[in-house]
Amino acid sequence: MKAINIALDGPAAAGKSTIAKRVAAQLSMIYVDTGAMYRAITYYYLTHKEQFTDFTSLISEIDLRLGYDAEKGQRVFLNDRDVTDYLRENDVTQNVSYVSSIKEVRQFLVQAQQKLAAEKGIVMDGRDIGTTVLPDAEVKVYMIASVEERAERRFKDNQERGIESSIEQLKKDIAERDAYDMNREISPLRKAEDAIEIDTTGLSIEQVTDKILSLVKAV
Ligand code: C5P
Repeated sequence: MKAINIALDGPAAAGKSTIAKRVAAQLSMIYVDTGAMYRAITYYYLTHKEQFTDFTSLISEIDLRLGYDAEKGQRVFLNDRDVTDYLRENDVTQNVSYVSSIKEVRQFLVQAQQKLAAEKGIVMDGRDIGTTVLPDAEVKVYMIASVEERAERRFKDNQERGIESSIEQLKKDIAERDAYDMNREISPLRKAEDAIEIDTTGLSIEQVTDKILSLVKAV
């Protein structure tokens, strides 16, 4: 197979990371979760905001690195500290769309993501991968699912991680985050014109994975 990049975008909790991990494992590619990068900046912002008056100086203090653990998968290192376990906490989730809408934050992360994918062999998931980060990706997918199904999936996810949540609250949070992500000025969440849309409502993880693998075969 020739070296390619795969861009996987879509709204919150559409199952992108589960599918991206599977596709990457099957094709011996590297999975990059860009949401975790935005969450790491948000975590830094929440824990240090009193010390900064603007995002340019906040970002200048950040060294962000991704590592891989055979069991745990992608790990995010913020100034040499593994912060991965904090990134799904409620205060991070509630503030991440705001932090992600800031121009300086996007410039910083888009550049880092493009660097990671420069040698190809990357499956990258996010909101603007097909439109902005990797517009030339060989395979572009836009995954959607009903809000109900996404809230149920996230609820199960949270249960497994020991995070408390309610389905009604999750539905509200997911819908609000999508609206914010779709309406921001810079790189809003939207399907790239040449992306293939997959509605995963009612589909199994295997079915979605197989659909993407067949798109890859056709490249
Ligand atoms: O994918 P995840 O839910 O972890 O993403 C968290 C948030 O990060 C999104 O709601 C969005 O605001 C932001 N994000 C983004 N661009 C990306 C990935 C994530 O703006 N490529």
